[in-house]
Amino acid sequence: MWKKIFGKTGQSNNDNGTALLEQIDRNSLPRHIAIIMDGNGRWANGKGMVRSVGHTAGVKALKRTLKAAIALDLEAMTVYAFSTENWKRPPTEVDFLMKLFSDYLEKELAEMDEDNVCIKFIGRVNELSPGLQKQIRDAEQRTADNTGVRFTVAVNYGGQDEMVRAVQSLARDVKAGSLEPENIDSKLLESRLDTSDLPPVDLVIRTSGDMRLSNFLIWQTAYAEFWFTDTNWPDFGKEQLAEALLDFSKRDRRFGGLNEKK
Ligand code: FPP
Repeated sequence: MWKKIFGKTGQSNNDNGTALLEQIDRNSLPRHIAIIMDGNGRWANGKGMVRSVGHTAGVKALKRTLKAAIALDLEAMTVYAFSTENWKRPPTEVDFLMKLFSDYLEKELAEMDEDNVCIKFIGRVNELSPGLQKQIRDAEQRTADNTGVRFTVAVNYGGQDEMVRAVQSLARDVKAGSLEPENIDSKLLESRLDTSDLPPVDLVIRTSGDMRLSNFLIWQTAYAEFWFTDTNWPDFGKEQLAEALLDFSKRDRRFGGLNEKK
């Protein structure tokens, strides 16, 4: 069964991933995984190539990881593609990344739609170029009714910025007289976040060795498990995803309570 599904995902590093995936209890899979796709530049530099080559290879890794998430029937996968801080990079790299996002939508949207993926972008999308904004809106509309993996791409996204925008939205209601400050609770604040329609994050995966959240989904990861690997993002594939999921399936999640079995 696993071989049948994963045999077709292609491009992955080797077939160890399939064997590992066979060991995972499907009832222990996370509902929502969030991925910090780090290390594209280091991957390219390590091979004596320019950073943009790493970003291009990163698109392939994203494609095969999404295919694996589809095969596993995960409910939601969110990836960090461009942070509010990434504008500090040289303009040539920023332009390259924006073009990569646009090309990705142009080339991959039809297949994602066929795969029943529902794609959504979060972050300050309104600050992107008008052309990219239109592609994003079209992609979201085209796949809005799809019932498969909810694939969210964070672009021009920062967790603190998202929270500031949510608080501003609540403050506007208070000012307008339609909301009492005492009636603000975590559920209401959550409903104003970009991710209001998604379940909380169960598992954060970060590649390339750094162990930090870097302003990604800071509210949504309150009770998430973390899995770090030294593998750079362009080398990520079903084997690494399987390792992360297998490890997650063994975690003892208590959400602040006590484990019933103990
Ligand atoms: C971090 O690696 C990666 C990024 C800032 C860009 C992420 C983009 C992709 C993986 C391309 C595919 C995405 C989409 C949505 C099509 P880095 O550049 O910070 O690498 P470094 O830490 O080694 O310098």
